[in-house]
Amino acid sequence: MSERDLSKSNELFQRAKRVIPGGVYGHQSPSLLVPGSFPTFISKAEGCRLTDPDGNEYIDFLCAYGPMVVGYRNPQVEEAVERQRHQCDSGNLPAPNMVELAERLVGLTPGIDWTVFAKNGSDAASWSLAIARAATGRELVAMVERTYHGVHGWANMMHEGFPAAERANIVSFAWNDAEGLERLADEHAGKLAAVIVTPFKHEAFGDSVMPAPGFLDTVRTVATRSGAAMIVDDVRAGFRLDMRGSAQLWGVTPDMILYSKALANGYPLSAVLGNDGLRDAAKRVFVTGTFFTQAVPIAASLATLDYLEANDGIARMRELGNRFCKGLSDRAEEAGLAVTLSGPPAIPFMTFQKDEGSFERSRVFAAACAARGVFVHPCHNWFVSTAHSEADVDFALDVAAEAFETVNGQFEEA
Ligand SMILES: Cc1ncc(COP(=O)(O)O)c(C=O)c1O
Repeated sequence: MSERDLSKSNELFQRAKRVIPGGVYGHQSPSLLVPGSFPTFISKAEGCRLTDPDGNEYIDFLCAYGPMVVGYRNPQVEEAVERQRHQCDSGNLPAPNMVELAERLVGLTPGIDWTVFAKNGSDAASWSLAIARAATGRELVAMVERTYHGVHGWANMMHEGFPAAERANIVSFAWNDAEGLERLADEHAGKLAAVIVTPFKHEAFGDSVMPAPGFLDTVRTVATRSGAAMIVDDVRAGFRLDMRGSAQLWGVTPDMILYSKALANGYPLSAVLGNDGLRDAAKRVFVTGTFFTQAVPIAASLATLDYLEANDGIARMRELGNRFCKGLSDRAEEAGLAVTLSGPPAIPFMTFQKDEGSFERSRVFAAACAARGVFVHPCHNWFVSTAHSEADVDFALDVAAEAFETVNGQFEEA
């Protein structure tokens, strides 16, 4: 149980359970956490700080699971949003700023000639497969096993409720197994429409794994040789590692790139970016959505990109992330705990080696952090934003040092 008063949060959760199945969706479901250790709702968010319904404040290292990249209610983004809100948002037609954002993304991204917009990463991922299938006249898609590309049937890791037929055209290979991918491509020669990968492996319930040297190059080569589209699902990592698309960090140029999360600093927007070879297919695939024309998220996106560029946001997040990761590993060592820090500094994650995948110590650690005003998740990677300051990171490190002691206190052999 938290030392903080979470009574309003808990009351809301009891009400929610009656009218919302499970009460709270996804990773923040209390079933994944030490019972009663986290608030279940957030009332206010500003910069890198959250306030729960009981008035407790947290420095947030989950950043809304990625979208918040330049700070909750970032003044420049909010000003652009307000300006656009006074013009139009949802409409029969898109607003002129859709063209501006498409041009901006095409200009930013090597090898990319067009962009189409949607509302979330799952839709963007499914749409990109449809484009690849329309372009190649093939149905099979290769993806990395146990990789999250959204909640649609082909990608959803929880199979409950989805017919097996939805996964019938998916074949998989292991992350960083270049030979395995080559074998798979040979086995399905002439049948692959696409190979879809994330820029690094960032699954919940596991350490993040960076691409082995040459792995993304092999994906590129195999896709080209197979006549398949290489899709990089940058939904989670986009605009935290490289403004040109995360794959450029490894010198790789995909045929399609998927963005969402950080693209509009929390406003609902996703994008599929592609090259000229796929343009006709993108024209033929019918996709639409009630809110696809929304101009406010597009205004938010343009302002977010402006802010990141003007403030050298990528370098800033890398510096802060490095400070955070180094501090965590130093504090853990001082506490006599063996931890693994994984992922790029701007999207870090920490696990306890003695947990061996159980996340027991991680749960206790995250609960102890929440009780002291730092929001991290035990089983899902964390995020750094440009709104964090050195002082915020240092505060979090002091809290982590106390949380390590709590772990030591609760596990005989920590
Ligand atoms: C790599 C990746 N692809 C797709 C998705 C799905 O995005 P959304 O939740 O916006 O549908 C996510 C969400 O976490 C993701 O991390």
